[in-house]
Amino acid sequence: MGSTLVGCGKAMPALKIGNTALEALVDTSDEWIASRTGIKTRCIAIEETSADLGEAAARQALGWTAGGYSERPLIPEDIDLIVCATITPDCITPSTAGLLRRRLGLSNAIAFDVNAACTGFVYSATVAEAMMAASAPNAAGASGRNPIRRALVVGTERLTRLTNWADRNTCVLFGDGAGAAVLEWDESRSGILGSFIVNADDEANALSCPLSYDVVPPFDSRGVSTEASRQEDPSTSRVDEELAVREAVDAGEPQQVLRMNGPHVFKFAAEAMTEAVRQVLSRTGLTLDDIACIVPHQANERIIKYAAKKLDLPLDFFQMSIAQTGNTSAASVPMALADAYAEGRIKRGDKVILTAFGGGFTSGALVFEA
Ligand code: ACO
Repeated sequence: MGSTLVGCGKAMPALKIGNTALEALVDTSDEWIASRTGIKTRCIAIEETSADLGEAAARQALGWTAGGYSERPLIPEDIDLIVCATITPDCITPSTAGLLRRRLGLSNAIAFDVNAACTGFVYSATVAEAMMAASAPNAAGASGRNPIRRALVVGTERLTRLTNWADRNTCVLFGDGAGAAVLEWDESRSGILGSFIVNADDEANALSCPLSYDVVPPFDSRGVSTEASRQEDPSTSRVDEELAVREAVDAGEPQQVLRMNGPHVFKFAAEAMTEAVRQVLSRTGLTLDDIACIVPHQANERIIKYAAKKLDLPLDFFQMSIAQTGNTSAASVPMALADAYAEGRIKRGDKVILTAFGGGFTSGALVFEA
């Protein structure tokens, strides 16, 4: 018995942008981007939001629209849980999972978001599987928890809203999109066999994106109101200081953008993904000979090539979707998974590994039997 994948789908924004279009923005070239990253095109969400993309991917996974993989169409009441991985939600609250619950009419579902950057889908599927397993009734027919028989797990991102379009080190890498999967608790199938998730401290701050709030509370640290504080001594008003900093920031470079030390992240990523695959195999007692294919996070073709070499596997063992997507963060793994199904790479009974790394630093791997 286990959480079995019974559907998956993906969605991409309408606008597709090739590498040559980026040559007009920054000092780069199609040749540099393609050879250093494997990326040829990416989609950019101009009209679509993360919830729009997540909804379109979820509809495929639920078997409501064509284009995805679905064992059979489900009805809204079937879904008990929605976990959405994203670092680019439409709003802070409701969560993107909450928005999907409303839009898809999944009125039985509990819904929340997970922020684990590019590893978000692996984390979310691990959380969903754990909640499903914990809610399975015991011998006495009770679990004491929300009964969760089916879960919708989504990864959706608009990373191009966190992109500094004047920074050639990062702006060539990212794209937008969404992927989704439906997990079903099945007494007669194994489904997810095991997972390994882990955090490391990104102490060099090699991958970060700050958050700026618009509101400054109207008190100073002593609890004196802003107005009284100003009258006491205008030169020490914290609120005025913060507002002055914000004005200076607004006039200059965008602040709420991804900043990355590429080579540092590359080094972490290559080791972390390989280690996660080894760990999940060891936890499940499997070997690479048992595995049909690996669906890795699509951040850089060279990172995947490095992992293939380290694991002594041919490159075609890995699903490769990056050429058309760029790095779509939490959406990357479920989008690549949908591609793997669409390309006929995954058949019933196959064992498949999903693996990713990302900001935090997060990393992990999960193995399931299709
Ligand atoms: N076009 C042309 N030249 C460029 C570009 C560009 N777009 N970007 C960088 N360069 C230059 C650099 O300035 C540097 O020039 P210099 O030698 O004169 O200083 C040279 O190319 C080499 O730069 P490196 O950064 O060393 O290039 P590298 O081969 O490491 O590739 C890359 C850079 C693609 C970013 C790579 O390091 C990488 O993929 N890192 C991992 C990124 C990643 O996986 N991020 C995932 C997390 S994202 C998230 O979590 C949301």
